[in-house]
Amino acid sequence: VIDVVKAREVFDSRGNPTVEADVILSDGTLGRAEVPSGASTGANEAVELRDGGQRLQGKGTTKAVNNVNTEINDALHGVSPFNQAQVDQIMIDLDGTPNKERLGANAILGVSMATCRAAAAETHQPLYRYLGGTDLELPQTFHNVINGGEHADNGIDIQEFMITAVDRSSFRDGFEKIVNTYHTLKKVIEKAGYTTGLGDEGGFAPDLDNSEAALQMLHNAIVQAGYVPGKEIAIAFDAAASYFYNTQTKQYDFEGQHLSPDALSDYYAKLLAQFPEIISIEDPYSEDDWENFVKFTKKYGDQVQIVTDDNVCTNPTLFAKAIKMGMANAFLIKLNQIGTVTETLTAIRLARKNGYATMMSHRSGETGDTFLADFTVATRTAQLKSGAPARSERVEKYNQLLRIEEELGTTGTRLAHFPDSVDYD
Ligand code: PGA
Ligand code: ZN
Repeated sequence: VIDVVKAREVFDSRGNPTVEADVILSDGTLGRAEVPSGASTGANEAVELRDGGQRLQGKGTTKAVNNVNTEINDALHGVSPFNQAQVDQIMIDLDGTPNKERLGANAILGVSMATCRAAAAETHQPLYRYLGGTDLELPQTFHNVINGGEHADNGIDIQEFMITAVDRSSFRDGFEKIVNTYHTLKKVIEKAGYTTGLGDEGGFAPDLDNSEAALQMLHNAIVQAGYVPGKEIAIAFDAAASYFYNTQTKQYDFEGQHLSPDALSDYYAKLLAQFPEIISIEDPYSEDDWENFVKFTKKYGDQVQIVTDDNVCTNPTLFAKAIKMGMANAFLIKLNQIGTVTETLTAIRLARKNGYATMMSHRSGETGDTFLADFTVATRTAQLKSGAPARSERVEKYNQLLRIEEELGTTGTRLAHFPDSVDYD
């Protein structure tokens, strides 16, 4: 049973404070987890509890840490770590708010993940095996190699340009292709006279004027690395359109233009025509603009994967609304948007029951914790985005997938682009 739950303030990849939680069982077994943090956070996300005040730009997490050490510790003492749903429900009830604002989603998620780790350790199993059982597969990974929007100081308003290996004989083979493309992209950017500094997610952040230029560079890099765009390496992007939506005019203030929702749709259509290797578009419309998001899905949903992130925030209630309205055909999944492992599993199941694809995701503020890699494999999630093949907080997730592939002894190929082939139960 759980003996002690405790937490401490540690720091994330942006140098901001976050929560690390320990769950210690009565025989001394330890489970530990670190909580990530977003920058382009959706309005409907569970609340990260921050201290406010002067210390650490108000971002301190000592209140969240204190909540773990006192109330959560008292409530979980003597509870079985093998009943994840019960552990999570105890914390949800203890918090008592709909968005976890009292105890903090950062406090609750840290303990939720650390409980999984303690239970896995107690049964002497790797985390992915404890959570996922048998018949596991490695995901198709999406790598953010050019950063814009909230994640970089440049003229690009689309937040993330990703590459994914759509032809591979194993996870390792696909990852090598990504690494080759990444290094070639660096040369392409240097040659064009731009700096090769990195954005928050390890991608380059050249000060280009617009997104089209970024896509052209990416296209050139794929070709120069020796791959066929669309056949071997494909492109995906996350517009994170809430960031450039003007709630007053209901227009999109995008790279110096004021675009109506229809004009924005035409712009995306132009990109799809110009770069047929684009296979997935995330958040093309703002979280305040469900209507045009639905309209865009009706028009282009057969042609390309359309992912929703900020509108639905890994929240089963919002997933149900999106499904009913016909918004997007894939859901992004982020543990800290909802705040417990159990609720994340509920969201994943709901998505798959309704024929939506799922893509697991890191946050722009990450830690060295590789929970995400195991969780992706355990839930048989076909797609994962965890940043560029650079910066250790990103690469460690991929390194963990390499270890898992070695342990599974499979060729780890999941070639179908989108469907999650096996339901998670
Ligand atoms: P965030 O960005 O972690 O800053 O929210 C990731 C995303 O928008 O998908
Ligand atoms: Zn997003």
